[in-house]
Amino acid sequence: MQKISSVDIKDIVNEYGTPCYVYDKAKFQNNYKKLNDAFTSHYENTKIHFSVKANSNINVLKIFNEIGCGADCSSPYEYYYAKKAGFTKDRILYTGNYESPEDLKAVANEGLMLNLDDITSFERLKKINVPELVSFRINPGYGRGGFEGITTAGTEAKFGVPYEKAFDAYKLAKDAGVRRFGIHMMTGSNNLEPYFFAEIVDKLMMIAGDIFNELDIVPEYVDIGGGFGIPYYDGEEELNVEATAEKVAKVFVENCDKYGFGRPKLILEPGRYLAGNAGYLVTSVTAIKESYKKFVGLDAGMNFLLRPALYGAFHRVRVYGKDDYVEKVSLCGQICENSDIFAKNILMPKVEEGDIVTFLDAGAYGYVMASNYNNRMRPPEVLVEDDNFKLIRRKETVEDILRTYPEMD
Ligand SMILES: Cc1ncc(COP(=O)(O)O)c(C=O)c1O
Repeated sequence: MQKISSVDIKDIVNEYGTPCYVYDKAKFQNNYKKLNDAFTSHYENTKIHFSVKANSNINVLKIFNEIGCGADCSSPYEYYYAKKAGFTKDRILYTGNYESPEDLKAVANEGLMLNLDDITSFERLKKINVPELVSFRINPGYGRGGFEGITTAGTEAKFGVPYEKAFDAYKLAKDAGVRRFGIHMMTGSNNLEPYFFAEIVDKLMMIAGDIFNELDIVPEYVDIGGGFGIPYYDGEEELNVEATAEKVAKVFVENCDKYGFGRPKLILEPGRYLAGNAGYLVTSVTAIKESYKKFVGLDAGMNFLLRPALYGAFHRVRVYGKDDYVEKVSLCGQICENSDIFAKNILMPKVEEGDIVTFLDAGAYGYVMASNYNNRMRPPEVLVEDDNFKLIRRKETVEDILRTYPEMD
């Protein structure tokens, strides 16, 4: 692989060095268009909110804002970034987790769509303000993700209100004076199976129907979360978004009719689907070691792309100018942890020191999870548009970090 869009990767490396995150603007836009077209063609009142946690670079957020996407924030500073990128409050959702009083203070009076994580979240919120509109994140009792680390519902999950307690949550909110309601779930990430989405939406709608009918509430929105997957392996099939949208819209409308909900807003909060394949981590080979196994060491490790070490995720790699896959190696970074291994025994072209190795699908949960571990400074981020590229965040410097210390001699 030598190019990202029409730009030669070497030109970017000559300008900004490695490691370096690179994003392809057109892919962000196309991903949004594809998902938005599919859903709005089956259910017009659909609204997509980009999940800021997946990629919070303000210049990336601006791209989504400009094309009409909303934002889904999970912390006060994600909300701050969303506003800085230009999202208006009516296009911002806030879905927290174990929200502290400080978190809630930052959003309680902002008129946002708030998806609360628990009944106790409402108790804390009430002490600050009782907003007009409230929604709870419901754990429908089961979930599914690409693997366990990204499954976010079910009896082992820390997220949301167990559905058996959902009635109490809404009753509490209604009794406290809340007048407008939504409902939310996020059951797992990187799902590639259209039927799963329809199945879980059906379950959420049954839960919503029972509760809201009994409390005489009609929801303004139903937020089904993100979770739309992308292929991370060669040969893996893409999620069929057209089929997903069709199946989801069908069960959604059937349930709206059954429970007398009219046509509430259907909200999606995708992160990975919109940003994943638009990002690349470009690295260089620093050293090749013949140990008990052959290791290829790179100038980026778990400090800059954590997913493989965090939960065993896999990212494909491409070597600049070489595509004969001839030998098995383990790919690692420079961090002093033996979990700093991207992939064990993968087939690679024969590389040399200095070769450029690019990780694919690093646009979601890539840079946002990067750290300064081992005192290595986080890499720059670059945006490619057609045959141009520009810096959208510079490399971190040690002075940036030293600024957080009190004055020292
Ligand atoms: C509440 C919520 N919404 C949306 C997302 C985005 O998920 P994905 O990247 O799978 O679309 C997440 C991810 O964990 C989440 O927790």
